[in-house]
Parts: sequence; C-alpha cells; structure tokens
Amino acid sequence: MRVLPRHLAAHTFYHLAEPLAGRCCRGLACFAARADAPVRWSAAERDRSSLYCLGKCYAGPSAADHDPRPHIEVHSRQAVLLGNVLTGGVHRLADYVTRGGGTARQRAMAMAPEELRRAVEMSGLRGRGGAGFPAGKKWQAVAAQPADRKYLVVNADEGDPGAFSDRFLLEDDPFRVLEAMIIAAHGVGAGQGYIYLRKEYPLAGARLADAIEQARRAGWLGERFDVELVIGAGSYLCGEETALLNALEGRRPEVRLRPPQISEYGLFGAPTLLHNVETLCALPWIVEHGAVAYAALGFSSSRGTKLLSLNSLFSRPGLYEVEFGLPLFEVVDKLGGGLRRGRLKGVMVGGPLAGIVPPRLLDTPLGYEEMQAIGCAVGHGGVIAFADDTPLAAILAEVFRFGASESCGKCTPCQRGTPQLAAMFEAAMEGGRIEPGRCADLLDALGAASLCGHGRGLAEFARAVQTHFPEEWKACFS
Ligand SMILES: Cc1cc2nc3c(=O)[nH]c(=O)nc-3n(C[C@H](O)[C@H](O)[C@H](O)COP(=O)(O)O)c2cc1C
Ligand code: SF4
Repeated sequence: MRVLPRHLAAHTFYHLAEPLAGRCCRGLACFAARADAPVRWSAAERDRSSLYCLGKCYAGPSAADHDPRPHIEVHSRQAVLLGNVLTGGVHRLADYVTRGGGTARQRAMAMAPEELRRAVEMSGLRGRGGAGFPAGKKWQAVAAQPADRKYLVVNADEGDPGAFSDRFLLEDDPFRVLEAMIIAAHGVGAGQGYIYLRKEYPLAGARLADAIEQARRAGWLGERFDVELVIGAGSYLCGEETALLNALEGRRPEVRLRPPQISEYGLFGAPTLLHNVETLCALPWIVEHGAVAYAALGFSSSRGTKLLSLNSLFSRPGLYEVEFGLPLFEVVDKLGGGLRRGRLKGVMVGGPLAGIVPPRLLDTPLGYEEMQAIGCAVGHGGVIAFADDTPLAAILAEVFRFGASESCGKCTPCQRGTPQLAAMFEAAMEGGRIEPGRCADLLDALGAASLCGHGRGLAEFARAVQTHFPEEWKACFS
C-alpha cells in the first residue's frame, strides 16, 4: 500500500493532511440533512479543509466516528453487483470461492482477449463513473495500441457527494474487484494494475490491502499481473481520470489536456484502461452468465443494473441495485419510501455536476439519454433528496462553494469563476440581488471554456436549475 503524495509540491494540493477521526462531513447530502443534526453540520462548516464527503450520506449529517450500516437491497431481476455485499461481506478468498467467486477468472483466462473484448462490447456495459462511455470501445482502443507496457487503473475515488456504492463494493466484495481487474487486464494486455483509493474510506483500504495479499498467496496475482493499492490524500478532482493519473505519478493532480487520450498515452506515458469500481464489478457476472444475459437487463441504450445511493432524507435511505428503466418516482416512493420529513423540492441524481430533477419530472426513466434529455444525468447514481426547508439559492451557493473548493486551478473560468458564483448565490441567500449579465457571462465561460467536466458540469447544473425552477432562479436576480 502506498500513501500519496510523495513530493512536497504535490502535497500542497491535497486537503486531508489531518486524520479523519473526530471530523464531520461537508458533502451535499449532509447539507440537505443539516437541520437533523445542526451541531454536526456547523462542525463540518468550521473545518478548514472541507471534508467532501465521507460516503455515509444515508446517515447525514455524518461524522467519521459514526458508522452505521445502511439498508442494502436488490430490486433488479438479477443481483449482478450486490450478492456478496448483501450477506454482510466476503473477506476471505476461500469464502469468495465457496460462493462461486473465481469461476469467471478461470473462464476469462481460457478465452482469447478478442473474444473477451467482444463479450464486453455485446453486453452494452457503459462506464458507471459518470460519463457512461461504452466499456467495449475503451477496451478496443487500449488493445489496439502497439505497446509493450499497458496499465489498468481502478478509479476508487468516489468523490461525488451523495454516492457510497463503490465504498460497499470495496469494503465488502474486494475479491470481486480483484477478479474483475484480472479479467480486464487479460482483455487489453495490461501487466500492472493500480487501485487509486480515496483516503476517506480507511476500512476499504485495510480490506483491499488484505485481499491483495491473500490473492498473491493464492497465485491470482503475481508476475503476469500484479496490483498496487495507492491511497489518496483528499481531493475530489483526483476522480477525474487524467488528474488521477498525475496523482498516481506523484505529480500535482491537475487535469491533463486532451488529446492524447489516456487509452493512447496514459499512466507513465503508456496506454491505460481506467474504469470505475462499479463498472469493473459487473465483469465477473458478464463472463459467467454471458453478454446476452447482461444486455437483457435494463432498457434502451442503458443495459444492465445500476447502484443507487439514497440519502438520509428518504424514509429508507441506503444502497439499492436496480435495472435501468425504473422511473424516478419509483426510486423516491418505492425504494426510498418517500421523504422522512417535509415536502420534496427535487432530487439531485448523479452528483453536483448534474441537475436537480423537479417533482413534476419524476416520471423520467433512469437511463443515460433519458436523463440527459431533461438536462440531468445518471452520473454515479447518488440520489440526494432536498426538502422544502432548503431554498434554491442555498443549494446553488453550496454547490458553487464545493466547486470552488475542489477546482484544480488549471483553467481560468473554473478557478476564478466558481468562487465568484458562490459569492453571488451566498449574497442572494442573504436577500441581495445578483447582476444577471455578470452571472450569465461567468456561466457561459464556465460551460464553454472549462478544460474538464468539473467546470462544464457546474455550468450545466446551474442551467438545469434555471430551467426547472424558474421562479426561484428569477428571485435571485430581483
Ligand atoms: C470532476 C470529475 C470528478 C470525477 N470523479 C470520479 C470519481 O470519483 N469516480 C469515478 O469513477 N469517476 C469519476 N469521474 C469520471 C472519470 O473521469 C472517468 O470518466 C471514469 O472513472 C471512467 O471510468 P468508467 O468508464 O468506468 O466510468 C470524474 C470526472 C470528473 C470530470
Ligand atoms: S474545469 Fe476546473 S477542475 Fe477542470 S481543469 Fe479547469 S480548473 Fe481544473
């Protein structure tokens, strides 16, 4: 296990020099629930190195020392992802194998890499980290590179406030993560794998380190393909894939200019396949049950199952596996059991870089294109309910404060624009009036000229709020 960062110049970038013990979470889900534990929330606000987020959004406002277990349920026809998590977790390789684990690894290693890549393509699997890019296309791009050295990187940064699905896969099903890595490495010809894990998930770190050792002893890992676990130091932006690669290299984790794409020039300049934890965790099931069986789940261009993390404002907050196509009102009413208190103002699906869905659009089915059509996103599947005790201006101010705090600083519209937008919406909360032209200019620049999805996503978030909550938006300007 390696702990970042290695160089002083990089060290200054990160937020979490201090230990987590005794600290409270500043994430958006905790913000939505701030009235439920105001003392905890003000402790989070006072914390100078804002802690976004602890991945305990089902118990918000949450604290590092408070760790209850959430509801965990499967609502899809097949438990593709949560089978082992449901049992409370599988932490010994022997138990994993007894439960059928490892069969996919054997089957995959007996397949030609092209056959494996074809299966991934046919399954319709898309990246669960946020962008929903087809996994099969990525695999082909990396496999097509004529290079002796290729890498596989697991994005275990799960930075989206509101999401905790990767956390439970990592803590409770670490061998599935490793098995998936072995399968993916075989598919693209990678000889070394890295897991970049956020510091906010210490239990996942300990369980993964132990699982890697067990897998090495059992001969799963070794000369042909080995895995290194690298622990971050607190930065949401390290979830962006090029910043993550810079972090792994021990450099300041700013976003890289593209092209080249990382499939061509990634970690240490070599072709790199990078995937989110949840994306990878679907692979053992796909190999074992077949691409056709996986593609039979879900709907439209969104196939398979998706994990949703519901925050503490729901009556039944927790982690749910669902099939794509489920209408959002079922997420709110059937899974979440409605709101615990207050009336629903809207649900933020997929993190702060996506929009807020108003109650009148809850018949929208969960799907990449379907969510995009209403200016929102599936994202990583964090579902934060806001009740009517939270004014829109307060949500806008909080999202832009988060955006400013986590900006990597590489480009001007984001580095300079997000603090100004935060200040504008803070002033609106206090009854001040925003100058509409200035706000529109800053948002236009953020949307058009940002180098990465952080700036662009924040602009899209504001646009969606403007579209879906026109009265409250207008009130900020009058
Ligand atoms: C600002 C920002 C933060 C991101 N954070 C994460 C993250 O925490 N975890 C993640 O898997 N992907 C995150 N992503 C997406 C990654 O850049 C990348 O697309 C993803 O990890 C690729 O894996 P996938 O194809 O399996 O989704 C983020 C993107 C942006 C722009
Ligand atoms: S948009 Fe923000 S986070 Fe992305 S590169 Fe620019 S400054 Fe960095």
